Amino acid sequence: MNKQKQVRSVLVTGGEGFIGYNLSKRLAEKNFEVTVIDSENPMSGFNPLHRTNLEKQNVRIIKDTIGNISKHEQSVKKCDAVINCAALISHLDSMKNPISDIENNTIEQIKFVDFMKQYPQKRIIYTSTRQVYGKQEKFPVKESAPINPVDSNGINKYTTELYYSLYSNIYSLNSLVLRLTNIYGPGMHIRDKRLSFIGWFINRCVTNNPIELYGEGSQKRDMLYIDDLCDTLISSLNSDYRGTVNVGSDTSSSLMEIALLIKRNNPRISILNVNFPEEIKKIDIGDFSTDNTLAKKLFNHKETVNLEEGLKKTIDYYNKNKGYYL
Ligand SMILES: NC(=O)c1ccc[n+]([C@@H]2O[C@H](COP(=O)([O-])OP(=O)(O)OC[C@H]3O[C@@H](n4cnc5c(N)ncnc54)[C@H](O)[C@@H]3O)[C@@H](O)[C@H]2O)c1
Repeated sequence: MNKQKQVRSVLVTGGEGFIGYNLSKRLAEKNFEVTVIDSENPMSGFNPLHRTNLEKQNVRIIKDTIGNISKHEQSVKKCDAVINCAALISHLDSMKNPISDIENNTIEQIKFVDFMKQYPQKRIIYTSTRQVYGKQEKFPVKESAPINPVDSNGINKYTTELYYSLYSNIYSLNSLVLRLTNIYGPGMHIRDKRLSFIGWFINRCVTNNPIELYGEGSQKRDMLYIDDLCDTLISSLNSDYRGTVNVGSDTSSSLMEIALLIKRNNPRISILNVNFPEEIKKIDIGDFSTDNTLAKKLFNHKETVNLEEGLKKTIDYYNKNKGYYL
């Protein structure tokens, strides 16, 4: 057991997007006191339904960018911990508009962490991404693997990771960097294909459209269901491990396998193989699978919802709620 104060009150940044919303909901259900700060960025997975639902759970919501955190000092003082989910996550957008990606994923983040340095006793968790690894040759990928980002988003997320590490060394910030794999589930952005392939596949399923696979669809992805991620995030709050930890699932599946599992939920849709668009091919990471050994040891991380089950739960959710997401 560690020496830090038991966490009861959490500030979730980006709490109106996919991961932050599910996390805030779960924290509130577990009787944590939750405050959200979110800029409601239209290029992100922010959704007004998330705001409405969180308000019903008495979650306090501040609409602002995390770069303005000094204006919200009282909220920071009140919390025992922060889980930072504020980001732009589109790889393609980050190449089309690298400045906006640098602003949100690096500059705003540095303003935030620089403000937080005066609170080294508070736990602060930064959600990074497996995108920082880029193309790898050895699988599953360990935390010690070479960093090789293939796009602007990967570079900017990694730069922010370095600040967390720097501030942990220099100012004793109680920080943890989690490199997340592909996360999926209810609440993710499905309106277009900018934010994730999986959101778009689900869109195709619930709107009765064909799923288009680039090339043979043989690229492997490591898919983790949102509830399993939330449990691990919550468990990491009361650990005092400082450093970088991968969070993924136990298996990886090809895009074709994922499309076939989705089709089981709607046999009317077809699966088409199409040419890889050049702009996407250039920044594709190839295959990926995560080595989760450290997360299992430190945070009791486990995959309890397998891909077939998770996709079914996700599709059921969008069949009921798609009006809010399309
Ligand atoms: N979804 C995934 O598969 C995945 C995979 C790896 C890592 N991650 C990481 O997890 C985190 C959350 O991702 P997500 O899928 O929930 O994204 P999302 O786009 O659904 O949500 C991000 C939220 O952050 C808010 N936001 C953006 N910039 C902000 C700023 N400067 N200040 C305040 N709020 C801001 C947006 O308005 C949005 O509500 C990100 O750090 C992302 O890099 C996600």
